Amino acid sequence: MTTTAPGRTARRYLMCEPVHYTVSYEINPWMDRTRFTDSDLAVRQWRTLRDTYLELGHEVDTIEPIPGLPDMVYAANGATVVDGVVYSARFRYAERQPEGPAYQKWFADHGFVTHTANQTNEGEGDLLVVGDVVLAGTGFRTERAAHAEAQELFGRPVVSLELVDPHYYHLDTALAVLSSAADDPQIAYYPPAFSAGSRGVLETMFPDAVVATERDAVALGLNAVSDGANVVVAPGAVDLAAAIRERGYTPIPVDTSELLKGGGGAKCCTLEIRG
Ligand code: ARG
Repeated sequence: MTTTAPGRTARRYLMCEPVHYTVSYEINPWMDRTRFTDSDLAVRQWRTLRDTYLELGHEVDTIEPIPGLPDMVYAANGATVVDGVVYSARFRYAERQPEGPAYQKWFADHGFVTHTANQTNEGEGDLLVVGDVVLAGTGFRTERAAHAEAQELFGRPVVSLELVDPHYYHLDTALAVLSSAADDPQIAYYPPAFSAGSRGVLETMFPDAVVATERDAVALGLNAVSDGANVVVAPGAVDLAAAIRERGYTPIPVDTSELLKGGGGAKCCTLEIRG
């Protein structure tokens, strides 16, 4: 078992301030329209998250929030960027569909060549780069056909994983990439979120993976952001924090409780731009 974290690499992230954040529709089991949401608190928590990345020495770009798109704060869903290639998002639900072109425009305006998706996919919510491969979720949002589209575009093997619990509707709610180092990729995941076959795939590919507990999963602890050494994680994910510390990572608890009401955590708010 690996006992040392492979080490930090500087990252570039894209984020969207939650000034228009609210829960006005329900497209996952965490969302409850009747519950009060505090967009000021969401903004404060989001700024703490952004400042945490800056303090860790990462670069943070921001996209202008658009009124009427309350979920736009979940930037991870906006696209997937690998080796500077941008695969645009194509959202499953009508409420979020305008976010795809909005994020695509941001990338085009910033000099990236972007590829319009033909298949339904929710960006890095379901497409996670681990070393040389891409792990891809399906079952609730992203279509399997999008996994093939991403593989063709990125020229990297894409491994399909079936999600079975509606609470963990995006891959990044059930699996965290701790290290993307090609020679030593490491993940943490919550097995009950996956079909039996997909659990088998993960066990084969990552025999030393950190296995998260139910307590970690319900805190959306798997929705963590790692730079290879520091792992920004929900404070409630105490078992996960202990397990990754043992592996040589530094857990950095950041409270995004207000954004959890929409069904997202730190990772959902963070789109990695891989140059
Ligand atoms: N309310 C959003 C949705 O259901 C939350 C998205 C969370 N993002 C993520 N990367 N898991 O689509």
